Amino acid sequence: MARFVVAIDGGAGSGKSTTAKGVAKRLDFFYIDTGAMYRAFTLKYLRSSGSGSRKVDIDLIRRLLRDTTVDLRKEDNEMKVYLDNEDVSLAIRTPEVSDFVSQVSAISEVRDWMVKRQREVAEGKNVVCEGRDIGTVVFPDAQVKIFMVAEVEVRAARRLRELGEKHMNADENEVMENIRFRDKYDSEREHSPLRRANDAIVVDTTNLTIEEEIEQVKAIVEKRLAAPEPS
Ligand code: DC
Repeated sequence: MARFVVAIDGGAGSGKSTTAKGVAKRLDFFYIDTGAMYRAFTLKYLRSSGSGSRKVDIDLIRRLLRDTTVDLRKEDNEMKVYLDNEDVSLAIRTPEVSDFVSQVSAISEVRDWMVKRQREVAEGKNVVCEGRDIGTVVFPDAQVKIFMVAEVEVRAARRLRELGEKHMNADENEVMENIRFRDKYDSEREHSPLRRANDAIVVDTTNLTIEEEIEQVKAIVEKRLAAPEPS
């Protein structure tokens, strides 16, 4: 069992990664980026299926899942994503992966595999875990649940800046389209859709600076850490 879990859910570019990373660093918790894990498996699928049809081949998915490892490792204070022992931290951020990750993530076998792996990664640790279904499915008993929201224009601007920092060029309209598409797809899928847990606290980051959003969530966590465990 994970020891203390901060679950942060929200749509693409809502500020969850930056906040989760910042809160984890300040509290010395382990940071789990579940989106990166889905992206890693999507990368493997895209490499294996070759170019051409972008329909999900369920048999291929099943075969690949039997022989895949996805790992999160902290190196030089940064979280790195490993796919079959290869560092894919940059390769998972390309538009090709962003354009296909929602379709792959909607498959129930993929979700079961990932949820199990996410719980293993969290075992015995204090974690800040971010994604779409953390407070609802992966850690429904998390001590703190946050649901982050922000206006789509602000979210697109953030994604563009993040990509720019990684020297990956992107078109603003395409980024906005991708965010809209993924939010819709992730929210409407049958298996563990993106939705706010009933007991999650909503944080709207539209008008917050990064510092403010980290401090706001950190304060919520600290308050809970100081409170006695409910019996
Ligand atoms: O957080 P991100 O944008 O890197 O996530 C990429 C995709 O992965 C997202 O569009 C849907 C999927 N995902 C998911 O289905 N469940 C999660 N817990 C995290 C991500």
